[in-house]
Amino acid sequence: PPRSMSLLRERHATLRDGIVGGRPAGVARQHALGKHTARERIDMLLDEGSFIELDMYRRHQAHGLRMEDNRPHTDGVVTGSGTIDGRRVFVYAQDFTIFGGSLGAGHASKIHKVMDMAISTGSPIIGLIDSGGARIQEGVVALSGYGGIFQRSVQASGVIPQISVVLGPCAGGAAYTVALADFAFMVRDTAQMYLTGPDVVEAVSGQKISHADLGGADVHGKRSGVATFVHDDEETCLQDVRYLISMLPGNNLEFPPSAPSQDATTDLRPRLAEIVPVEPNRPYDMRLVVSELVDDGEFMEMHEDWAQNVICVLARIDGEVVGVVGNQPMVLAGVLDVSASQKAARFVRFCDAFSIPLVTLIDVPGFLPGADQEYAGIIRHGAKLLYAYCEATVPRIHVIVRKAYGGAYIVMDSRTIGTDLSLAWPTNEVAVMGAEGAVNVIFRKELAASADPVALRSELVSEYAEQLMHPHYAAERGLVDDVIDPVQTRAAVARGLAMLRNKRKQSPQRKHGNVPL
Ligand code: COA
Repeated sequence: PPRSMSLLRERHATLRDGIVGGRPAGVARQHALGKHTARERIDMLLDEGSFIELDMYRRHQAHGLRMEDNRPHTDGVVTGSGTIDGRRVFVYAQDFTIFGGSLGAGHASKIHKVMDMAISTGSPIIGLIDSGGARIQEGVVALSGYGGIFQRSVQASGVIPQISVVLGPCAGGAAYTVALADFAFMVRDTAQMYLTGPDVVEAVSGQKISHADLGGADVHGKRSGVATFVHDDEETCLQDVRYLISMLPGNNLEFPPSAPSQDATTDLRPRLAEIVPVEPNRPYDMRLVVSELVDDGEFMEMHEDWAQNVICVLARIDGEVVGVVGNQPMVLAGVLDVSASQKAARFVRFCDAFSIPLVTLIDVPGFLPGADQEYAGIIRHGAKLLYAYCEATVPRIHVIVRKAYGGAYIVMDSRTIGTDLSLAWPTNEVAVMGAEGAVNVIFRKELAASADPVALRSELVSEYAEQLMHPHYAAERGLVDDVIDPVQTRAAVARGLAMLRNKRKQSPQRKHGNVPL
């Protein structure tokens, strides 16, 4: 052991530079793959000089299988705490150069310790994952290390934000460290995540598939919806983790940080009226509406490439963080389906847990019809979104931008499921169903008996549209609070958010609800 301060410093420096920890060949291999070492990643993520490392000297205590001959310090994971824009976070970064970043007992207990500290200090936890999974030489002890992570992650859910960043392999049960987190980042080409790897898939099913095709970043960003964000390289990925943190509170007892904006909320937004076509079936990009509503047009979109028929973004209005959920008429006409319901439900629950007000932009023709959707359980999955909204106690404002039809209208944060403020543009599309369909159902007999069914149908369609479909019909019945000029939407939403800022709502005591899963 070191006996003088200079020896102590030397030993620290050796460990920090990764000469003992990440052996030179391993470091070169990381770099050749376009990856960084655990400490380089931490340096990119945190404010300069803010990192306090814990358990630097930790090494495994395993025996057998030649483990005694190889006991590197850190045990393959760098853990500690630092700041992002001056705000505290806790972090662990797996070091692939040591036993492939695999998780043994020591490695796991370092992660447990840093998670416990994040929970007890009310700070976000960020896991940088680059690992071959459970350390095979340590047997079931390694597996139980994962159990300890999962148990803590579930206890921390809704208490502190949890972010997993996959920067290399993430195989087997380790994938649940990602699934249980609130947000998952992945980097193209280098990150792969699956429960069973290509070899096992081939042995079991005969299917030959590459690591990337089975569990690459795009697979999880576009198809499975496991990855919330996908990036081309580690630098931009870690920069985006910083951006995300800048919009989140440290824990569920704090509010997200506000960031005063120069972008006046009183200005009119004439572009809004141009972006949304009056014709009910003309598509447009709801993200353009969002950028007119939020400060400086800036927002962070979740699951950009998955379930694109609904958009979920974090942004600020009048300096305060909001979660915006919007139907996306550009994709599948903005209908709700299984994936869109899951995506929006998880986002709504996150926002509710962390005091982020919800702004819902409604332009929804309904649920996606079809046997596929029914067989896939759209009733069950749509119920997730319904449940999430019904349960949410944060300030809630919706804007009916164009269409709001049927069951999907109820689910999209309607008045009866608890929205606080309902605003509508003067459209003519708010009803149980469209005029043609409605007339066919309620006047079937009259149309069949008529000498001129075409003329009668058009007369009845106009009658239905005039009487039932205007938002004033809903407003007269207290279901819409105000019918507004589109150009005033940003101002009206900002005023509504200010009005609702101190909203408090208690739910009855219970162990927990039984959310449809
Ligand atoms: N336990 C112990 N050591 C592991 C490990 C694990 N789970 N996964 C990888 N390693 C070690 C390798 O033995 C190798 O050690 P070495 O440098 O001393 O030879 C080092 O990590 C690098 O692994 P390597 O296989 O050379 O890297 P790769 O980039 O070619 O492949 C993986 C990465 C993750 C695909 C591959 O290592 C793998 O399949 N690992 C096992 C995954 C697994 O089944 N884990 C258990 C599931 S819970």
